[in-house]
Amino acid sequence: MKWSQFFNTSIGKKLLVGATGFFLCSFVIVHLAGNISLLYNDEGHAFNTYATFMSHNGLIQFIAWGLKVVILLHAILALQLTFKNLAARPVKYAVKPGNKTSSWFSRQMAMMGSILFIFLVVHLAQFWWAMHYGVDVPTASYGGTEEYRDLYLVVQQAFTHEYNVIIYVIGMIGLSFHLIHGFKSACQTFGLNHKKYNGIINFIGVWFFGILIPAGFALIPVVIFFKQY
Ligand code: HEM
Repeated sequence: MKWSQFFNTSIGKKLLVGATGFFLCSFVIVHLAGNISLLYNDEGHAFNTYATFMSHNGLIQFIAWGLKVVILLHAILALQLTFKNLAARPVKYAVKPGNKTSSWFSRQMAMMGSILFIFLVVHLAQFWWAMHYGVDVPTASYGGTEEYRDLYLVVQQAFTHEYNVIIYVIGMIGLSFHLIHGFKSACQTFGLNHKKYNGIINFIGVWFFGILIPAGFALIPVVIFFKQY
């Protein structure tokens, strides 16, 4: 069987969803580590230096475009698998199977993934677009000759509005539920589920990806919002 044919099968698609999911898990760690500097009391020096470096480095820009392709691929393949599973079950269960066959988290994957996808479209339109193509973006300089696009100020201004804070907190609840099941499910796809490792996989999935990472992201708009008072 050719590779192209293999990746058209359900197992091939599942492997691609798992592999792209792992890649996206590593992205959220790096993204949060960079964004935490939005909370520093340095008038945006650290964050703007970081954002300028990220958007001017050729290799990082290449990876950043790859990232967008990976997000689309992950979403499309996961939805295809969900619809295929639903179609394979034409008669609705008289009694919902509930926790006996699948957890609540696994049944909500498509729903939480869709919330996350809508969040991402809003998010990229707000910040990524401003950084790369925005026309009225203010600039900042920190004593030297270099001028930075003041993305720090753009973010700070966005989070003075409660509706943005609410959108981000809902998005992060979606991220939390999606990662709690997603990380475990990707490990299973790659055959890592073994009595010896299940405990640590569950711990990382729930506490690190499901709680720490989304809470860290959610903290940023909440802290910026309350700082204005
Ligand atoms: C409070 C939470 C967040 C803040 C303040 C934030 C901030 C930002 C900013 C300022 C940018 C533009 C950077 C640039 O283009 O140089 C950006 C880009 C991006 N963000 Fe976020 N982000 C947050 C959460 C998230 C989450 C949870 C995800 C994914 C689940 C995400 C995915 C992305 C992606 C894919 C890009 C485009 C990256 C690139 O092209 O380099 N962000 N974010």
